[in-house]
Amino acid sequence: MTTAPPLPEGFLWGASTSPHQTEGGNVHSDWWFLENDPNSFVSERSGDATDSYNRYPEDMRLLADAGLTAYRFGIEWARIEPAPGEFMQVELDHYRRMIETAQGLGLTPVVTLHHFTSPAWFAQQGGWLHPDAVDLFARYVEQAATILHDVQWVCTINEPNIIAAMAALMRNMADNSQNTQTDTAVTSLSLPTPDSEIAEILTRAHKRAVGIVHANTPAKAGWTIAGQQLEPTPGNKEIFERTRWEWEDRFLEVARGDDFVGIQAYTSQTVDADGIVAHPAHPDNTLSGWAYRPDALEMALRHAWDITGGTPLLVTENGISTDDDDVRIRYTEAALAGLDNAVSDGLDVRGYLHWSALDNYEWGHWGPTFGLIAVDRTTFERHPKPSLGWLGQHARTGIAQVTS
Ligand code: BGC
Repeated sequence: MTTAPPLPEGFLWGASTSPHQTEGGNVHSDWWFLENDPNSFVSERSGDATDSYNRYPEDMRLLADAGLTAYRFGIEWARIEPAPGEFMQVELDHYRRMIETAQGLGLTPVVTLHHFTSPAWFAQQGGWLHPDAVDLFARYVEQAATILHDVQWVCTINEPNIIAAMAALMRNMADNSQNTQTDTAVTSLSLPTPDSEIAEILTRAHKRAVGIVHANTPAKAGWTIAGQQLEPTPGNKEIFERTRWEWEDRFLEVARGDDFVGIQAYTSQTVDADGIVAHPAHPDNTLSGWAYRPDALEMALRHAWDITGGTPLLVTENGISTDDDDVRIRYTEAALAGLDNAVSDGLDVRGYLHWSALDNYEWGHWGPTFGLIAVDRTTFERHPKPSLGWLGQHARTGIAQVTS
């Protein structure tokens, strides 16, 4: 048995979460309203989530004790600005404590400013289509920057391509008045093509946020893109190229010249004459119904590297929803082998943050469990899975791949 050389000094080994999926009681957010609207398509509610608003020190300690060196978490706009222009210093102080707790445990905080959720008031006023949406987001980011003065990594907007696809879904539903008939998870990859107008607005919002982060903090700033790893079927190259541009490349192009781009990869899908093909049922599919494709990570890294022309890459999400932790380890081992291949070929990959630290709220569903740590939904007791210690071993050795 041989081992590959360690990854570069300072490579981040960690796990990721988002506020709405873990904190609980995110009552001022648009998603809270959606979940609690009897006519909405969302089947299960976030409720108390994993109570990480209160239990984040325990979550972080588990990650640090396992040997991980980084934690990606978000700050929640809806808590910080629950009413237009009303900024809650106590919430900023809360997130500042989170940053300091991570740092105190030896975890590099990777802070996300927007992870799918917005304040309900923002959504009710038109959301990203509000004429002042970019200014409103920038006003929030200015406030957020006051607690980021020693943070090294900031993700501005999580998966703008999925936000734009969700916006297209909402528009279609409004047009067809069908909002009771669809049950979809936000990342089900069965969404309509991302809305171009929203994509443009998010691009401007991202650029404003990067400017604010640069002016006020030492952090590297970038956005995180859901990589689809689309593959053409025979004879469909043209529609494949167009679909990939609409879903992914237009967002990666924005990251040219950024400090980094966040890579989020789980699976792969084919494109035929009608567009993206839904995953067929298969015994190996994950609990999200996605194809088991650990090679997705290497594909995503290489594609992002090509399209951005060499923007540094940070894996901000990769993982699998499964109730079999051996499968999680096997999937992640193969994904890390792909990452190692990419690094060996000269790609500048700065870290690997596994999705997710905890079994958390999967946007309308509690069933798909992505976590390195299980959570009892009644007592909120944390139960680390073997995969947490296993990933921690990689972090301790700094080695991505064990080859035989
Ligand atoms: C999102 C996460 C989500 C994960 C798994 C990503 O698209 O950023 O919030 O839980 O995928 O579906």
